[in-house]
Amino acid sequence: MVTLKTENELATMREAGRVVARTLAAVADAARPGTTLLELDTLAADLIASLGAGSSFRGYRPAWAPTPYPGVLCLSVNDVVVHGIPDGRVLREGDLLSVDCGAYVDGLHGDAAVTVAVGAVDEAAERLSRTTAEALAAGIAQARPGNRLGDISHAVQRVARAAGYGQADGMGGHGIGWKMHEAPDVPNEGRPGRGMPLRAGLVLAIEPMLIEGGGDDHRTLDDGWTVATLDGSRAAHWEHTVAITEAGPVILTLP
Ligand code: MF3
Ligand code: CO
Repeated sequence: MVTLKTENELATMREAGRVVARTLAAVADAARPGTTLLELDTLAADLIASLGAGSSFRGYRPAWAPTPYPGVLCLSVNDVVVHGIPDGRVLREGDLLSVDCGAYVDGLHGDAAVTVAVGAVDEAAERLSRTTAEALAAGIAQARPGNRLGDISHAVQRVARAAGYGQADGMGGHGIGWKMHEAPDVPNEGRPGRGMPLRAGLVLAIEPMLIEGGGDDHRTLDDGWTVATLDGSRAAHWEHTVAITEAGPVILTLP
């Protein structure tokens, strides 16, 4: 069921979004050659707690997952698209790292992701990440009353395909609020003018995942979580939690 949020709920979600944004900034700053993924997860866990929030990810178990999620971040390196589990892996110069974080305040959630360069990355990686951020911005720009869900999906798709990138098949964003994953699903492909009408009070997590090689295929590794490209090509992931208001889209996951 799709629920619309009140002004009070939006204000609290803004607080949760602020925690997420500050955590992503701190992790992006700490993601240097030689740092392990577990060190980043610990840094994030401590920061979220010190800001008086809870982790949306740790212990979360969607129906398809074999185990509760162990981390507070998803850390997805190079050919990992999303849901990479923080482990002892050491980051190396040139790695492309996607960082996904969720936090809640008073039961209301925020969810966002950024892709960061570890040290200097090649121009192709810069372009992949930049285009994914542009796809997100294009989707956000459509998140206004009077439009439909398909307008968001189509805007994301257009940017991704025009640049020649693939998109992880069947994966996308979601409604968010009292639960991290709420209705509706927010596909990264769709037709303009189709789908659910967008109304003020609807809050959506919009999250394009672009694949460098142009293919859409991916697989889930044996841990049941990690999603990687089938052909080993690199991926980028950007996400914001966005409130639809009468005045247009308001990004809740900003510092
Ligand atoms: N942004 C991710 C998503 O919406 C966060 C989920 S990670 C999980 O799928 F570990 F919490 F499941
Ligand atoms: Co999400």
